[in-house]
Amino acid sequence: MAILVTGGAGYIGSHTVVELQNAGYEVVVLDNLSNASEKSLQRVEQITGKPVTFYKADILDKAAMEDIFSKESIDSVIHFAGLKAVGESVQKPWEYYNNNITGTLTLIQVMREHNVKNIIFSSSATVYGTPKQVPVTEETPKGECTNPYGWTKSMLEQILQDIQKADPEWNVILLRYFNPIGAHKSGLIGENPSGIPNNLMPYITQVAVGKREELGVFGNDYPTPDGTCIRDYVHVVDLAIGHVKALKRIEEKAGFGIYNLGTGKGSSVLDIVNNFQEATGVPIPYSIKERRAGDIPENYANAEKAYRELGWKAQYGIKEMCEDSWRWQSQNPDGYGE
Ligand code: NAD
Ligand code: UFG
Repeated sequence: MAILVTGGAGYIGSHTVVELQNAGYEVVVLDNLSNASEKSLQRVEQITGKPVTFYKADILDKAAMEDIFSKESIDSVIHFAGLKAVGESVQKPWEYYNNNITGTLTLIQVMREHNVKNIIFSSSATVYGTPKQVPVTEETPKGECTNPYGWTKSMLEQILQDIQKADPEWNVILLRYFNPIGAHKSGLIGENPSGIPNNLMPYITQVAVGKREELGVFGNDYPTPDGTCIRDYVHVVDLAIGHVKALKRIEEKAGFGIYNLGTGKGSSVLDIVNNFQEATGVPIPYSIKERRAGDIPENYANAEKAYRELGWKAQYGIKEMCEDSWRWQSQNPDGYGE
């Protein structure tokens, strides 16, 4: 039996394929390569020494997915495929709702036809909106999202929950990621954004490698100790291991479950800059800019439920996240070179 990993050539997906193969699972990857390079999977094979079965296919393409489900004996799906750029989603809401929601509905339709009823879904801390209190637990009410991307996550959570409720044979696990950064220790795989990075760590590493002049820090007048926003940064390898743990839970008939995947510790933008400089010895020039629209002052996880029920706990701290992000970027200044 195999695990189908949609979006498996991407950042979190490729790291998860490594951990799945290390744990002995047979893995089939589906990705349309809209935001990834197939080279990531060659690197995965280099790391694990095991072949990855890859299909270049789109989750919107029902026939292509039927073909995959007919050829492979899929047992469970880990569903990463989706568009994820917050700003772009404001400009292109139809594209985001169509890709993420219609795509997932199509995937679920094919899964159902092939009697595959186990799914782990990549959700996000963004579904909490602007939380009234931090840290957030899974019981913290969901909030108003500030952009269509966030709404696709929030809506897909509801859709998957309703599907499991209507047919309890389904096992559905929603993983709410906080802020994934870092890279595999080998430096062979990592985050590979196209164009100007939207997110903090890839921007910092591109400044460090000399591709960008300085970091803009978006606002230093938030109600936080140093005035910059606080997030819960979590090492991508920890996140990947979280998926293996969630899969074990599915094998024990999870039913429905929601888990925060974070470290439980908040760091400000300037904490990250300082830790990066200390961990790597590379200076990061920065200047303070206007606040970025839609940013919330503070969000971090209470991740105790994941520990209690999945036996998952983040192992890596900020220093290792910075070191590993830098190893990837410095060894691969142009990412996968495409
Ligand atoms: P990523 O862009 O690197 O990976 C997503 C992958 O999905 C890409 O390889 C892309 O080519 C593929 N894809 C997109 N649309 C597709 C389609 N229609 N058919 C087939 N493949 C398609 O992003 P990531 O950071 O690895 O994120 C993985 C998942 O986790 C996404 O669903 C994302 O929304 C979610 N998530 C990410 C973060 C984060 O900060 N990185 C935070 C919370 C949640
Ligand atoms: N930041 C800067 N300068 C930059 C980039 C980011 O100061 O060049 C700041 C942001 O203002 C924010 C913090 O760094 O305060 C983190 O920003 P990111 O864009 O890295 O992360 P976000 O928390 O905004 O967004 C992430 C994911 C989203 C997800 C969201 C909520 O990228 O997909 O977490 O979970 F929706």
